[in-house]
Amino acid sequence: MTSFDPASLLVPRTRSADEGPIIRMAQKSRDLRAKGIDVVSMTVGEPDFDTPLNIQEAATAAMQAGFTHYSPVMGIPELRAALSKKLKSENGLDYGPNEICVANGAKQAICNAILSIIDAGDEVIMLAPFWVSYEITVRFAGGTPVVLHAGVEENYKVPARRIAEAITPKTKLLIVNSPSNPTGAVWTRAELEEIAALVTSHPRMMVLADEIYEYIVFDGEMTSIGALPGMRERTITVNGFSKGFAMTGWRLGYSCAVEPIAKAMGRMQGTLSAGANQFVQRAGVAALEGPRDEVERMRLRYKARRDMVLKGLRAIAGVRIGNIPATFYAFPDVSSLLGKKAGNHVMDSTDTLCDWLLDEHAVATVPGGAFGAPGSIRLSFACSEAEIEKAMARLQKALGQLA
Ligand SMILES: Cc1ncc(COP(=O)(O)O)c(C=O)c1O
Repeated sequence: MTSFDPASLLVPRTRSADEGPIIRMAQKSRDLRAKGIDVVSMTVGEPDFDTPLNIQEAATAAMQAGFTHYSPVMGIPELRAALSKKLKSENGLDYGPNEICVANGAKQAICNAILSIIDAGDEVIMLAPFWVSYEITVRFAGGTPVVLHAGVEENYKVPARRIAEAITPKTKLLIVNSPSNPTGAVWTRAELEEIAALVTSHPRMMVLADEIYEYIVFDGEMTSIGALPGMRERTITVNGFSKGFAMTGWRLGYSCAVEPIAKAMGRMQGTLSAGANQFVQRAGVAALEGPRDEVERMRLRYKARRDMVLKGLRAIAGVRIGNIPATFYAFPDVSSLLGKKAGNHVMDSTDTLCDWLLDEHAVATVPGGAFGAPGSIRLSFACSEAEIEKAMARLQKALGQLA
């Protein structure tokens, strides 16, 4: 028999699909916890709250009423109608039910969009720091990411002037994630208007707007770029239930775009996975049309936690952080701590720093490289106030001893 290595069959795509650092740090914290170490994990972007009861009850009732079969690929009419109404009244986005595609999570909606629009050689402008998955998915489709970076001094928002310089005839897509994971930045209406002017003056460029953190805004107001003049045809807006309604495990997201694009996205989804779970979609209708007090209660808790994290981080010399107007992430710039030492241990990168923080101080964070910003680290404050307090004390002690 000839020797055979199954792994030798794997194609390069499998290597680009790697959300490595977040999963690695989350796993490492679980391993340490299993050994009895009291680790505080600020790694994963997942609400620590349970899904509001009215939504759970709607799912149970729908399941018991027999909604356990395949769904139409693009979603049940009730949810698409409710989403059309929501997008119009809350976001000023004017899309009919036929222009909406319900997906198995916003992540799938993003995948549907990129696979529908991007081909080999197409350029996608991404504003770093960005959410890990965008770059992976663009590479997956054969596209070329064009990464522009903005640090804390620009409030993590690349100005339109620099975006204009990066646009070429090959540019096809610009990804805008406002509010942003990992920085919490929110683009103002004026900033989005400047971006929209660039997009509408290009012959074949669109925006992928990811608005999944829209209900977790503390300061200012979020604007949907797709609602700006001339942007309806130019925008694919993606959103989902995971963050605002604490529904991560349910896998429910959606997109809106003009019909030919929405339909193509539906075909991608039909091939990859089919329609979202029917009783989950019915729960989605309950989430949209039911009371929002739980959503507001969670937002206020995140706001209080945001204040704790900002206070804690600002007390550490060498850590630079701007305001966090939205989301449950902090993305401090720790580049001035790189090269410093703890004993013989040299912090030569944020990867080393995060490993050291976890191994020696039992705080799990994520190095910024995967978000396109290797001088920063990401902390998720979707964890309890007691854990945040503990984490801040540990970080102050750990980072304060670097010399
Ligand atoms: C910016 C952003 N978009 C999309 C998603 C994916 O959300 P979903 O759970 O709906 O797939 C996440 C999840 O972390 C995210 O942070």
